[in-house]
Amino acid sequence: MTRINTKELAAGMRLAEDVVGSNGRLLMLKDTELDAKHLRILNVWGVSEVEIAGSDSEQDAPARHAPADPEILAASERFALDIFGKAAASGEFAAELLRLTASWFAAKLQNGEPLPPRISPPPALPPAKPPPNLEKMLAKGGKIIACPDVYLRINEALKKPNCSVAHLADIVGKDIGLSAKLLQLVNSPIYGYSMKVDSLLRGITILGFKELSQLVLGLSVFNRFLGIRADVLNVREFLKHGLSCGILARILASHRPDLPEERFFIAGLLHDVGRMAMLTVAPAHLAAAMAKASREGLPLCAVEMEFFGFTHAEAGGALLAQWKLPPELEDPIRHHHEPAAAQDPAGASLLCVADCLATAMRFGFSGSAHLALADNAAWERLGQPLGVLESVMNQAQRQVEGALQSLMG
Ligand SMILES: [Fe+2]
Ligand SMILES: [Fe+2]
Repeated sequence: MTRINTKELAAGMRLAEDVVGSNGRLLMLKDTELDAKHLRILNVWGVSEVEIAGSDSEQDAPARHAPADPEILAASERFALDIFGKAAASGEFAAELLRLTASWFAAKLQNGEPLPPRISPPPALPPAKPPPNLEKMLAKGGKIIACPDVYLRINEALKKPNCSVAHLADIVGKDIGLSAKLLQLVNSPIYGYSMKVDSLLRGITILGFKELSQLVLGLSVFNRFLGIRADVLNVREFLKHGLSCGILARILASHRPDLPEERFFIAGLLHDVGRMAMLTVAPAHLAAAMAKASREGLPLCAVEMEFFGFTHAEAGGALLAQWKLPPELEDPIRHHHEPAAAQDPAGASLLCVADCLATAMRFGFSGSAHLALADNAAWERLGQPLGVLESVMNQAQRQVEGALQSLMG
């Protein structure tokens, strides 16, 4: 029996022990003969080592990668520093994130991939008229920012004592697009079920009622925004940022038994929803704020106050309160850029860190080219060693690719 790094595994090897994920979920049984699908699952779940029966890791190990050349390292460091911009960055967390971001892009350059283009919004002046205040903005957003009907119908059904899986499946099943996306997501590497979930009835049974209602909400909002075309902000990239933040938040939560993974996936998916309200009601003001933030190397949320009198985090919190979402979703979203002010600072900190990682890795684009906050205190509230950051980033990349195909086609 030999302990072997998962990067060095090959089809045909046999597990000498059960494999359990970081959240305690049993992933594979002892004596499983590994095939391509098993290798993919181990990769997706970020398992770093497994016990293999009768293997010699030295013989099977591939050649190590050569270190990146100095020019590549210098270019990737400049790129990482630009992403950090004038973020409020502090302590060991910011230093480690900067190092990992630079080596993340160095690895891409080394593989012949170009660095992502610098996103610069066109210069824009704020319109002469001030934007509506937060209350008026939420009232003017109309259908685009209204609470999805299907979520309301599910919550109504859940209030009845005799609510059944069949009734919920019937409500969700009336929206064919939503049902298809729900099943695709549940079958994607994010959930990592080894059996195919091929019906809504089975999907709802596995997910549970509460998670179903939150997932339906997240997917309905995601679908609705996917249809928007806007000159100011690339909405697909914006949604990719939210999806990536959700995946990163879910992975980070898997290291904390007290923070439910499913809730943080939805919180990440929706964390910047307030910016969609700003884009819908006052696109010219948002364009002007983006231009200033880009010009001055500032995070967009730092200049939103000047142009709107409130931030997208505040707008998102107010929107979710209007939708009557539970405080455990509203609170981290409202405070994801100031987690110390949240009722649950650990939950808001987790979302803050996930947002930081998604921005640093350039997974999509939230409208802000620069990090908002790389806060040591937020990281410390998670109580994790800095060493987990790199595996979280690698695990997220694989899941984002799979989820993007499921949700965006
Ligand atoms: Fe944000
Ligand atoms: Fe964000």
